[in-house]
Amino acid sequence: MNAVEAVYEQWQRLCALKSDFKLKDESGRAILAELCTRRHGHFDAWLTEIAQLPIWQETQVNVAKNCPEVMVQQALSMAEKESLLKGLEALMPWRKGPFSIAGIQIDSEWRSDFKYQRLLDLGVTLAGQQILDVGTGNGYFLYRLLGSGAHLAVGVDPSWHYFAQFLALQRYFAQERAVYLPMTLDDALLTDFDITLSMGVLYHRRDPLAHLGQLRETLRADGRLILETLVVEGDEQTVFMPKERYAGMRNVWFLPSVAALGRWLSRLGFEVEAQTEVVQTTPLEQRATNWMQRQSLKDFMQADGQLTKEGLPPPKRVMMVARKL
Ligand SMILES: C[S@@+](CC[C@H](N)C(=O)[O-])C[C@H]1O[C@@H](n2cnc3c(N)ncnc32)[C@H](O)[C@@H]1O
Repeated sequence: MNAVEAVYEQWQRLCALKSDFKLKDESGRAILAELCTRRHGHFDAWLTEIAQLPIWQETQVNVAKNCPEVMVQQALSMAEKESLLKGLEALMPWRKGPFSIAGIQIDSEWRSDFKYQRLLDLGVTLAGQQILDVGTGNGYFLYRLLGSGAHLAVGVDPSWHYFAQFLALQRYFAQERAVYLPMTLDDALLTDFDITLSMGVLYHRRDPLAHLGQLRETLRADGRLILETLVVEGDEQTVFMPKERYAGMRNVWFLPSVAALGRWLSRLGFEVEAQTEVVQTTPLEQRATNWMQRQSLKDFMQADGQLTKEGLPPPKRVMMVARKL
């Protein structure tokens, strides 16, 4: 399978699963074909690695777990184990997870299950829903949403590296109702979803209000936005912009207070229905592992963990559920 085929296959599945997309079939293909011309330079090599990953007929898949799991019924040969490990390692760094595939534990940088538990704690009905995940990473949350009974889970993310990881995961998890498009909503607006997730994306946007407006357009009338982002302390008028980096990240723009975020949402036509406590990200949730051997949170914080290396407030996050008015 080449890059264009890999992307078209995703698009085709989306058109088959979501009837309102059939009409956009041709224009969707044209957009994706153009994006393929700008794919990551390693993408074709990653596809070759994925095609060589061993595959088994008899597997048992469980995506309704903190660590989505594929179990193989037969005993694996040493050669199969080595080939699986080598193929998955070729796709490092693994930032989102964990996953368990044929006995190999992908211990990713992020314990994404912590975030998913916070999402579940908000009590939104996921079963039977058509859900869009904007900035889906490698699709960890797509699997978890399907494990919670979602009817359809569509992820968009401009990262071709994460797309490659998703394709590798799909070789084993084979979830027909998980779709991944390596793009942003600026490339093509996807519409009429029951629920849209935007987690860990808003602070990377130079235009957070435009992003919220775009997210609103992805929803059907009365649909729900699940928004997760970094926040600071303060009132409705508090929005912090780092001078340069924030916790080592160059591309962090606006960190609102919870109250300011609520105001943004209400100005843009949402009603906030529920929100989590503000949670500080700790090295239990984000850390370097064998599968992500680069610097991680600890390296970007001062020794006491209470200020970032730049002397700024530590990363704290909130998740909100907002109804489209
Ligand atoms: C911090 S990660 C968050 C991933 C995941 N949603 C999570 O909460 O763990 C941000 C993700 O947003 C993606 N991203 C950046 N700009 C985006 C955009 N305009 N639209 C969609 N995704 C974007 C990045 O490629 C990256 O995968």
